[in-house]
Amino acid sequence: MRFRCGKTDAVTDLLIELEQFEKDALAAIKNAGDARELEAVRIEFLGAQRGRLKELQAGLGQVLRTAEKETKARLGSKFNEVKASVGAALEQRKRELERPAAVTGGLDVTLPGVAPELGRRHPLAQTILEFKDIIGRFGFTVAEGPEVEDEYHNFEALNIPHDHPARDPLDNFYLATAASAAGSGARLLRSQTSTVQIRVMEKTQPPVRVISVGRVYRPDAIDATHSCMFHQMEGLMVGQRVTMAELKTVLRLFARAYLGHDVHIRFRPSFFPFTEPSVEVDMSWDEPGKPWLEIGGAGMVDPNVLSAVGYDPDRVSGFAFGLGVERFSMRRYRIPDIRLFTSNDIRFLRQF
Ligand code: PHE
Repeated sequence: MRFRCGKTDAVTDLLIELEQFEKDALAAIKNAGDARELEAVRIEFLGAQRGRLKELQAGLGQVLRTAEKETKARLGSKFNEVKASVGAALEQRKRELERPAAVTGGLDVTLPGVAPELGRRHPLAQTILEFKDIIGRFGFTVAEGPEVEDEYHNFEALNIPHDHPARDPLDNFYLATAASAAGSGARLLRSQTSTVQIRVMEKTQPPVRVISVGRVYRPDAIDATHSCMFHQMEGLMVGQRVTMAELKTVLRLFARAYLGHDVHIRFRPSFFPFTEPSVEVDMSWDEPGKPWLEIGGAGMVDPNVLSAVGYDPDRVSGFAFGLGVERFSMRRYRIPDIRLFTSNDIRFLRQF
């Protein structure tokens, strides 16, 4: 409370002035935008020569000379209090202005930031990397092939003749080009990675040991275990006296390495135009009532295919396999539905 009466006038005035001084100084300090401005504020208020506090000090001196003991103590402590408070505010503002954040205009880079959400590889991408790593240890290198294929690589070179049902437009994604129906020059989304076998053999002489992993497309009805787009890992090994024993060994060692425990590989007789003999490949599984899981197709490369790429079937032989990547991944992680891979559901993806 402020009041003016009789003898205390000078003292009260001084107290009011001290308070006003403090208010002005703190406001000026707060408004100082950089170190230079702050120094000017310091000189104006606390300057040793002509600072405003200096003036107040002179007035104080006069009052104190005539004041009573109690008043002296009151004024003295108020003076010191104000001086300390303004000094401390100056120091604090000085430190604030020294931080680079304040200089760059309100962005305080010293504050803890908002952590960016780290993404991770899609489970299938992880699986594919692991596949390449494992099979690489058996000496297989990785080849790539186009997803938009011509009929020659998707069918013809693979010994699939013109009238073969596998070429039916209803069973393939032909692209709407000038030659849109199945016919010469037509293009389609590849229905299998066996196309890459051909592309590799066209360019390489035996011995060959190569894999290719990628997407394949089939207009199948979509359910928990089928999709119109999925991934295959194609394997091809050609050399002198390559036999089905090597095929089975590679498949078993591969499956064992990926799943982390031993498995049995079972061959069931089958037919593919580009392998002879051909087999469906099953892998043992520990699920009650479901001891086998089909994981792909395989066989010995058909002599017609070897001839088509200029190899001599009397001198070299080879095996090929095509495995379903999703199948392996689903089994290892117990993923119940293939559609989860493409659902883009963060709750699913976060688990890998
Ligand atoms: N390409 C075959 C398929 O998609 C699988 C396969 C690959 C079979 C290699 C034999 C040899 O079904």
